[in-house]
Amino acid sequence: MKALRYFGARDIRCEAMDDPVLLSDRDAIVRMQACSICGSDLHIYHGHGFSEDLGFCVGHEAVGEVVEIGRAVTRLKVGDTVMTPAAVGCGACRACLGGDVINCEFQAGGCYGLSARLQGVQAEAYRVPAADMNAVKIPDGVSADQALMMTDALATAWFGARQADIKPGKSVAVIGLGPIGLMAVDSAFVMGATTVYAIDPVPERRAFAETSGAVALHPDEALETIKDATHGRKVDCVVEAVGHDATVELALRLVARRGVVSVIGVQQSRRFAFPLERAFAAGLTFRIGTCSVPEELPALFPLVQAGRLKPERYISHRLTLDAGAEAYALFDSRQAGALKVVMAPAG
Ligand SMILES: NC(=O)c1ccc[n+]([C@@H]2O[C@H](COP(=O)([O-])OP(=O)(O)OC[C@H]3O[C@@H](n4cnc5c(N)ncnc54)[C@H](O)[C@@H]3O)[C@@H](O)[C@H]2O)c1
Ligand SMILES: [Zn+2]
Ligand SMILES: [Zn+2]
Repeated sequence: MKALRYFGARDIRCEAMDDPVLLSDRDAIVRMQACSICGSDLHIYHGHGFSEDLGFCVGHEAVGEVVEIGRAVTRLKVGDTVMTPAAVGCGACRACLGGDVINCEFQAGGCYGLSARLQGVQAEAYRVPAADMNAVKIPDGVSADQALMMTDALATAWFGARQADIKPGKSVAVIGLGPIGLMAVDSAFVMGATTVYAIDPVPERRAFAETSGAVALHPDEALETIKDATHGRKVDCVVEAVGHDATVELALRLVARRGVVSVIGVQQSRRFAFPLERAFAAGLTFRIGTCSVPEELPALFPLVQAGRLKPERYISHRLTLDAGAEAYALFDSRQAGALKVVMAPAG
C-alpha cells in the first residue's frame, strides 16, 4: 500500500509500505477514506517530533471502512464506516471504560503515527488495536467530514475550553488560531462566553475567527488592548493552542485574578519558568494536558448533529494521498487560507 512516511525534517513522502495485518484477535483493519493533518504532525515535520524513529507512517486523524476484523471483535463488521480517535487504549481497564484512553492503565497503545510503535493513519489502510473500543461507528446526522474533524481537532478544542472552565457570562481569550484554536473559539461561544478575544499573527486566521464573532487581535497588541477593554481586569478564561513559551507566558498575563489558564498546545519547552509567585498572588488555576477523544464525543455528537458546532467549515484544501508532501508544506506555510488539509486515496 501507499503511506506517508517520515524520513527527517520537512521530508514526508508518499511511499510503498507493507500492508497492515491483524496482530491480535481484537484488531481491525480500516481502509482509509479521508485523513487530515494536525498541528502535532507539524512538530514531527519540523524534526522535533515524539521519537527518533525514521520511516514510520504518520497521521492520527482518519475515517474509513472496516475491511477485516479479528475473531474477538464483536461490535464492528466488515463494511462499517468508522472514525478512529487519535489515541487508542486497551478498551477494558477502568480509565478506558470511562473514555480516558490517554491514561490507559496498561498503556496499551498511545497515539497513531508518532513513532514506529503504532503506525499512522495517513495511509491507504491502517490497523486499529482493540477495535471494538477504538473504532467508532459514525452516527446518523454526522457527516464523514465532521467525524474526521472529531477524531482529534474538535475534541481537543472542546476539551481545552472545558479545562478553562468556560461558563455563561465568562470572558475568554484563545491564543493560536490554527484549526484547534478556531474550534476552541466556537466551543467557547457554545459554552456561553460573552466576549472571545482570538489571537494569532496570521491575518486570514484572525479574519476567520471574526466570522465566529470573536474580537481578533495580533499577539503584539493583545495584552494592551484587552487591558484597556476590560479596565485592567483582563479575561476569566484563557485557552492556549500554540505550545510556545511566549504564548504560555502571554496566557498567564492575559488571565484575570482567580482566572483559569488551559494549555493544549503541545509543549516544545524544557525550561519554562512558571511564575509561581504571580499565580499564587492572583489565585490562578493552570491546567495542561492531552485530550482523550472518546471522553468528549458524548457531548460533541449531539452538538454537531444539531448544527451548533460546524467543524467541517475549517476544511480548506483537499488533496490526494500521493500529494502528501505538498499537503504538509501547504499546512505548514499557513498560506492560501490553509487550515484543515484533507487527503484521500487517489482514484
Ligand atoms: N493537547 C492535545 O491533546 C492536543 C491535540 C492535538 C493537537 N495539539 C496541539 O495544539 C496546537 C494547535 O494545533 P493546530 O492543529 O491548530 O496547529 P497550527 O499549527 O495550525 O496552529 C498553531 C497556531 O498558532 C499560531 N501562533 C504561532 N505563534 C503565535 C503567537 N506568538 N501568538 C499567537 N498565535 C501564534 C500560528 O499562527 C497557528 O495559527 C499544536 O501545538 C498541536 O500540537 C494538542
Ligand atoms: Zn493531533
Ligand atoms: Zn486501558
